[in-house]
Amino acid sequence: MTTLGTPLSHHATKVMLLGSGELGKEVLIALQRLGVETIAVDRYDNAPGQQVAHHARTITMSDPAQLKALIEAERPHLVVPEIEAIATPMLEELEAAGTVRVIPTARAARLTMDREGIRVLAAETLGLPTSPYKFCNSLEELQAAIDAGIGYPCIVKPVMSSSGKGQSKIDGPADVQKAWDYAMAGGRVSHGRVIVEGFIDFDYEITQLTVRSVGADGQIATSFCDPIGHVQVSGDYVESWQPHPMHPAALEKSRQIAKAVTDNLGGQGLFGVELFVKGENVWFSEVSPRPHDTGLVTLCTQHQSEFELHARAILGLPVDTSLRNPGASAVIYGGVEAQGIVFDGVEDALRVPGTDLRLFGKPESFVKRRMGVALARAENVDSARANAKLAAGKVRPRAA
Ligand SMILES: Nc1ncnc2c1ncn2[C@@H]1O[C@H](COP(=O)(O)OP(=O)(O)O)[C@@H](O)[C@H]1O
Ligand SMILES: [Mg+2]
Repeated sequence: MTTLGTPLSHHATKVMLLGSGELGKEVLIALQRLGVETIAVDRYDNAPGQQVAHHARTITMSDPAQLKALIEAERPHLVVPEIEAIATPMLEELEAAGTVRVIPTARAARLTMDREGIRVLAAETLGLPTSPYKFCNSLEELQAAIDAGIGYPCIVKPVMSSSGKGQSKIDGPADVQKAWDYAMAGGRVSHGRVIVEGFIDFDYEITQLTVRSVGADGQIATSFCDPIGHVQVSGDYVESWQPHPMHPAALEKSRQIAKAVTDNLGGQGLFGVELFVKGENVWFSEVSPRPHDTGLVTLCTQHQSEFELHARAILGLPVDTSLRNPGASAVIYGGVEAQGIVFDGVEDALRVPGTDLRLFGKPESFVKRRMGVALARAENVDSARANAKLAAGKVRPRAA
């Protein structure tokens, strides 16, 4: 049974978000609506989620000592990782000591904090179909892995990176050195380890949002959202839509894979399972044990967005994953390097039928930083995509 408290009282239900970007901000808003006391943690001040939480804390989340000190001082009921770069072994220690519950589990946070733990689990422990891959610690090892069977084309990614940072495609021998150098410059932690993956020539890729929540019988139940289609440019999401039409056999396989991975990771919450699809073949790519950026579209397509689903699932509340109407999202990039930017054209964007906007409130803009997203609901995905892109294009960020 779930009992919720009153925020800022002795009986508050306290939830700490580790990472308070645009995805964390929406989770925090969903928690606020249920009267949960929220603590938003990030590595810099005034992060999007910190602007809507009861408490804002700024620490280096990859530093185990800082993380431990903060959790012990705040004593939240739940710790909810929103990013990967966290001292997850410390979360495992605190969870094992009974100090805190980590969402979905501390082990899931550790296995997904880099590309290695989750890939080995999916491909080698669970035997799920993935691209052929090899982990390499040097340019020589990379070349050897390609020559020994990965072949061309292939994709190189730093083991520790996200949003396509340091990731590039190798079409032939002439690209290998460049890809290695690019990965070394773009990784989150410069420990020089990469994954090289055989290139999957998929028809399309989807995110299968999967929720583990407590059912009426008190047992964990798995439910699935409609598949989300998306377009990635240099490994970063620029556009997504829901539902993505799928062959029933491919959908069935996608859900079997999503179930296998999320069963193993365990706990409660929403997961974003990334899959590549070609005909009836499906490959597992990766999984976020938390809301997924391509799932921003659910803010305008589902009765409960992925953020509301996550909030409900982690609190032990029932969920409804059903689709309300087709829709799409299109990313708004900063386009400038500046602090405290302003946005022109918002009224033009919102005049596009069926649209909505999220401006994340990030204090600093970079050319390729995601500063907002346009959302569009429509009769069908094609018009929703057209309208989302149209609206996104009308928003013009600039230095103040
Ligand atoms: N082996 C692959 N074959 C084809 N495309 C790939 C492969 N790996 C990644 N991609 C493309 O790059 C995108 C980002 O890769 P991903 O592994 O999801 O990195 P990130 O963790 O940065 O999201 C994928 O969504 C897909 O479009
Ligand atoms: Mg990805």
